Amino acid sequence: MTFWQKLAKKKKPFLALAPMEDVTDVVFRQVIEEIAPPDVFFTEFTNVEAILHNAPSDPPLNLRGGRKGELLNNPALYRLLLSKTKIPTVAQIWGTNPESFYKSAQIISDMGFSGIDINMGCPQRPELKIGACAALIKNHTLASEIIDAVRRGTKSPVSVKTRIGIKEIQTEDWIGFLLTQKLDALTVHGRTVKEMSAVPAHWDEIAKVVKMKGDTIIIGNGDVKNKQDAGHRAQETGADGVMIGRGVFENPWCFSDHTSTKEEKINLLKRHLELWQETWGDKKNFSVLKKYFKIYVRDFDGASELRAKLMEAKSIEVLKILIQKFL
Ligand SMILES: Cc1cc2nc3c(=O)[nH]c(=O)nc-3n(C[C@H](O)[C@H](O)[C@H](O)COP(=O)(O)O)c2cc1C
Repeated sequence: MTFWQKLAKKKKPFLALAPMEDVTDVVFRQVIEEIAPPDVFFTEFTNVEAILHNAPSDPPLNLRGGRKGELLNNPALYRLLLSKTKIPTVAQIWGTNPESFYKSAQIISDMGFSGIDINMGCPQRPELKIGACAALIKNHTLASEIIDAVRRGTKSPVSVKTRIGIKEIQTEDWIGFLLTQKLDALTVHGRTVKEMSAVPAHWDEIAKVVKMKGDTIIIGNGDVKNKQDAGHRAQETGADGVMIGRGVFENPWCFSDHTSTKEEKINLLKRHLELWQETWGDKKNFSVLKKYFKIYVRDFDGASELRAKLMEAKSIEVLKILIQKFL
């Protein structure tokens, strides 16, 4: 039984934190695991050529604790850093060359992930232009070659995350095709590429997918804010799992029933800073940290004033002083 099947058997719906670039790194996943974990995590999407270009040649690849116990000077592989987590974590990869997917899958197999996910949904122009990610929706042959290559490269479960079409909804054609590929799991973001995130997700299409699904575990995605919302969507559609992305920006406790206080939110920011320093030191650009302020510093008196001050800070030390003063 794959870990996906175990999750689906244990809990309906199981909950996933969406892969989000510059958000769901190892630090953020650890913060969320400590307060209100989902049932499965995904990494940020990681380019297969970058993995191969930067991968050290003598396995096992061990970003931390290996060699001299240092973090490798390798930004592509930062995305695939894994902590000692209890939550199954899936590495998400993207690209266009099946051979590179094959080799990357081999490398990732040694890193401790529970599965490998192939990004076939990112709608950004640079990825589409080279025929990667959501562009694969119109290239079934390459999509199939990539899935086969990943499967050859790993014994772990293989999944895909995608959208329901490019310009038009193509659920029968595209998702129908993917369901013939014997994937272990499939995440369906219920919008087309053209729709980006501008219209409400088409959960009626996700319900159609569930009817077509056969043995593939289906995870529905789009506009779900929290655990309760996820329960309703699963009931409506029959999806095995529900994935939450931007909902975690509004409430980091969204995978639980907990209502957080101002102190808890600020302490969570403090924890994030601590883990950030411990994990990244000066390896990651300080400005990336600023994205997180609006996740923790919101919905309490004085939040926007504090946020404005934090945005001006240029170091973690200054952030800590500002937080202490506020408390
Ligand atoms: C900041 C940000 C970064 C994202 N990065 C990725 C990514 O790396 N891989 C991916 O498959 N989807 C990515 N997505 C899409 C989300 O995983 C998710 O499909 C989308 O946000 C819809 O879910 P939501 O309505 O719950 O946010 C990203 C979304 C956001 C907002």
